[in-house]
Amino acid sequence: MYQNIFDTHAHYDDGRFDADRDQLLPSLPQKGVVAVVNAASDLATCQSGLELTQKYPFFFCAVGVHPHQAEQFQSGDLETLARLAKEPKVVAIGEIGLDYHYDFSPREVQKRVFEAQLRLARDLQMPVIIHDREAHEDTLTLLRRYRPQGILHCFSGSAEMAREIVDLGMYVAFGGAVTFKNARKPLEAAAAVPMDRLLVETDCPYMAPEPLRGRRCDSSMIEFVANRLAQVKGIEPQALLDQTCENAKKVYKIESF
Ligand code: NI
Repeated sequence: MYQNIFDTHAHYDDGRFDADRDQLLPSLPQKGVVAVVNAASDLATCQSGLELTQKYPFFFCAVGVHPHQAEQFQSGDLETLARLAKEPKVVAIGEIGLDYHYDFSPREVQKRVFEAQLRLARDLQMPVIIHDREAHEDTLTLLRRYRPQGILHCFSGSAEMAREIVDLGMYVAFGGAVTFKNARKPLEAAAAVPMDRLLVETDCPYMAPEPLRGRRCDSSMIEFVANRLAQVKGIEPQALLDQTCENAKKVYKIESF
């Protein structure tokens, strides 16, 4: 069994965990999981993430509004986020960004809400968790402009883009997608990321890795992601998990669990 699994991005507030959340989460440390960061999508999930951190010592959370929910963002929400961000165990602003695949919110609105939260993270000197789906150009433009610390999560860009993200000082996170049969592009990108900037994540309940693809995902399944990335890096999976755990502590500024 592997140790030092740090799941840098999960959604345990999701309804798909309602039936067994209280059984599943306490079992994760026995499966080698040492820490989880629950990413928020809106103000309600910021709150549920905070509750998880109060219940489970190895849980941390991010607060932020996802591009899907950008249109519901209201003027007072930034103040609410700023207040929530100061709670203990809140380690990042996220997930925030742009999603031009679904376009659930108009692109101009997505950009405005993304920028407002990039400024918030800068004011609070906190890292960000970035969601970028089919919006690489606009995401890069804003990252170049604001130069946040943080993570590009579920990375789907090219190796060239990964190098630029690293040059900007950020970390790059990979999940189940690297295990899929058509994973050539994310694997090339992972190869381009230096070991001290690499992170692993689930994005659970979504993105279960092969050979469990299609099932509900949880943090213990990171072993399949670690196996694949370790092949690409030419190291042992446990060494990859040890290093990515150290990286996660660094980017989220967590000194101990
Ligand atoms: Ni997510």
